[in-house]
Amino acid sequence: MPRVLSCIQPSGAVHLGNYLGALRNWVLGQHEADAFHGIVDLHAMVSVQEPGVIGAQTIELAAVLFAVGLDPDVATVFVQSHVPEHARLSWLMECTVSYGELSRMTQFKDKTAKGGTDFVPAGLFTYPALQAADILLYDTDHVPVGDDQRQHVEITRDIAVRFNQRYGAEVFRLPDAVVPKAGARVMDLQEPTSKMSKSNSAETGIIYLSDPPATVAKKFKRAVTDSENSVRYDRAAKPGVSNLLDILAACGGGDPAALAGDFTQYGPLKAAAADAVVATLEPIQARYRELMDDRAELSRLLRVGAHKAEVVASETYRRATEAVGFLPPG
Ligand code: AMP
Ligand code: TRP
Repeated sequence: MPRVLSCIQPSGAVHLGNYLGALRNWVLGQHEADAFHGIVDLHAMVSVQEPGVIGAQTIELAAVLFAVGLDPDVATVFVQSHVPEHARLSWLMECTVSYGELSRMTQFKDKTAKGGTDFVPAGLFTYPALQAADILLYDTDHVPVGDDQRQHVEITRDIAVRFNQRYGAEVFRLPDAVVPKAGARVMDLQEPTSKMSKSNSAETGIIYLSDPPATVAKKFKRAVTDSENSVRYDRAAKPGVSNLLDILAACGGGDPAALAGDFTQYGPLKAAAADAVVATLEPIQARYRELMDDRAELSRLLRVGAHKAEVVASETYRRATEAVGFLPPG
């Protein structure tokens, strides 16, 4: 069975784009692979600096992951900082990747391009080394990620190849990025040419997994369409309408282009998309509340996940340090 790993940062509320573009695929994939999913709290420290916030977001995200259907008896769901090998291997990765390679990473260039006086943590620069550690620790075959993460998987491969060459041992397995087909991109309801995103979107353009039905209905009612009056699936010419059709298809089933034939006006299409989203979210929200009402159980599930992760990670880390040839503690 192939090993699959993907991780998500506890850096804010989870939205419909995260669910349809990532989490739902993790749930579907857990039965076809040996799945590992990390809540990467160390990564979140790059952008979240208020004390206490990361922990609170971590427990909420854990509840979301189980609520959407990751089964703790099937997939390994763990918190990155609970498995110390991530931070430890990250240093070995930092010494295997070059300053030049890290400087060329798009995410680093984009986030520092503005110049300005904002505090730029060194962790923003070395972030890919930590991500490489996440991936390589688990002998990962496939990394299901969005397009924006492809470069991070590529640099992970480069690091793995270099490490294996340098230390004369096949320590690390080379991972492949698995990027879902187009269509897994949920666009902002207010600005349908940009992707739904917690960093760029206005609140009214984002559907959160926690939004109550009335909020979902209101956001869809106000969704931006266009001034024509025909329902067609055409992402380039009609981004708003096509996004509604994509969301309807993703939540209610069917093919977006075929579904267009069921509607002559925008109002009913918006209502149908809203209903499909509400029906998708309701059971998730019910399970989320149950999980959040039993923190002891949630902590137990994360302990079990961390233990399973630790068994694999500690073995890989041992292999790596042995290959480097550190003096073993006597
Ligand atoms: P982020 O919230 O950007 O950290 O993304 C977490 C995961 O959700 C990544 O795998 C992204 O590729 C995915 N994702 C984020 N926004 C969207 C979106 N609007 N449509 C589809 N997938 C998304
Ligand atoms: N960098 C990823 C993101 O921002 C999160 C992440 C960290 C990740 N480690 C990973 C994703 C390992 C896949 C595999 O979305």
